Amino acid sequence: MNSVLRPDPGVCIQQPCEIWGADKLCLGRNIHIGRHTEIMADGGVTIGNNVVISYHCVLWSIDHRYEGDAIPYDKARIRRPIVIHDNVWLGRNVMVRGGVTIGEGAVVAMGSVVTRDVPPLAVVGGNPARVLKFRDGALYAKNKAEGNFLWSEDGVCGACQAPGFFLLDAPVTPPSLARRIWSNLVTRWRLAVWRHFGNREFQVR
Ligand SMILES: CC(C)(COP(=O)(O)OP(=O)(O)OC[C@H]1O[C@@H](n2cnc3c(N)ncnc32)[C@H](O)[C@@H]1OP(=O)(O)O)[C@@H](O)C(=O)NCCC(=O)NCCS
Repeated sequence: MNSVLRPDPGVCIQQPCEIWGADKLCLGRNIHIGRHTEIMADGGVTIGNNVVISYHCVLWSIDHRYEGDAIPYDKARIRRPIVIHDNVWLGRNVMVRGGVTIGEGAVVAMGSVVTRDVPPLAVVGGNPARVLKFRDGALYAKNKAEGNFLWSEDGVCGACQAPGFFLLDAPVTPPSLARRIWSNLVTRWRLAVWRHFGNREFQVR
């Protein structure tokens, strides 16, 4: 593709990107897709509002059948839709396997391979991606209620052109052992609740 896929307000697709099956790609508003990202949408890819997909990501919604009539795989194509809910951030070099749903407000760390559904508000990382922690739900809900999105000012893509960007120094002191243990326990508890009750527990209104 040589140009922006659709002229919808706030949909920014940096070039070069490769998109196959664009008719099965469903895009919300205020989306940034970084350069060198590849999207195979033949199996269906849905991307919600206010989503940032960084550079060199891969979303692959079809698969081959390796237990069929030919080796290494036959000509059947298995459709596995991908759904990325609102306000998700995929870091650099993230790969999302077909059939995966990434919950609202989730963050996927750079270099991750996402093979299973991601709970809303989770921060996941690794290959295969596992839940590292959850983002601050109260802060998330406040920003959402106030409409504080990366693009809310003027519709210009905040991820690559926003004039108002500011740099924060990373905290120099690592979190204390007690804080790490507490965070680990909270993460395990929230994950168990999500597994038990599904997404309901994590609905952010
Ligand atoms: C996801 C991310 C935002 C988390 O940042 P953070 O909240 O400061 O994370 P922390 O440093 O507290 O790390 C928390 C845990 O996650 C782990 N982690 C962080 N990044 C990881 C990664 N990419 N893969 C696997 N684990 C990761 C850390 O090792 C740490 O584990 P530990 O507690 O066992 O040591 C950050 O790691 C990241 O990947 N940012 C994306 C950057 C990017 O792609 N930018 C492109 C421009 S859009």
